[in-house]
Amino acid sequence: MSNVHVLEHPLIQHKLTYIRDKSTGTKEFRELVDEVAMLMAFEITRDLSVEEITVETPVSTAKTKILSGKKIGLIPILRAGLGMVDGMLKLLPAARVGHVGLYRDPETLVPVEYYVKLPSDMAERELIVIDPMLATGGSANDAIQALKQRGAKKIRLMCLVAAPEGVEVIQKNHPDVDIYLCAIDEGLNEKSYIVPGLGDAGDRLFGTK
Ligand code: PRP
Ligand code: URA
Repeated sequence: MSNVHVLEHPLIQHKLTYIRDKSTGTKEFRELVDEVAMLMAFEITRDLSVEEITVETPVSTAKTKILSGKKIGLIPILRAGLGMVDGMLKLLPAARVGHVGLYRDPETLVPVEYYVKLPSDMAERELIVIDPMLATGGSANDAIQALKQRGAKKIRLMCLVAAPEGVEVIQKNHPDVDIYLCAIDEGLNEKSYIVPGLGDAGDRLFGTK
């Protein structure tokens, strides 16, 4: 069963409040999503493995640690996932970035895949699928499936806000994928938007509508 981690750090929760607020404009929304993504990267990487090495300091030798184990791949789901990539790269500058393009058909709400471009060595990488919204779970579910079909072994999912329905879908279909969230909201409305949520993440990030 997937572990679900709700990141309760006060800075994350504070910034999420302003992300949710409908009076927050595009520029500030984008900046806040970027900042929260960076803070989430810090929390999500707590369990990365490290190894001990020795370095010469100007004074003596120090036994100290560096990251070891699998390298990271970031996989934003287009298009709203793009808004979280730069923030994560601030802490994980060597990560490779792959893209999965999906949109929810407005009538059927079924995700439609239109683009997949992934790092060639992604089977050796620990992948983090990124999307601000986990609503019905259809998009994240299909993105994870697309990665597994192409050989991905270790995947985490990171979203700002989730509906319980979406969390359930991922837990059922991808029990090996741990989920990292800032909040689990009440549910979905008749258009499958998250309630209270933050509205349409892509439109708010890119100023479309
Ligand atoms: C939004 C969001 C997720 C998806 C979540 O994208 O960024 O990808 O909806 O909904 P689901 O869990 O019900 O699948 P959207 O389809 O609006 O595409 P966009 O990012 O290109 O606007
Ligand atoms: N996609 C969004 O951008 N927002 C929602 O609330 C649900 C899906």
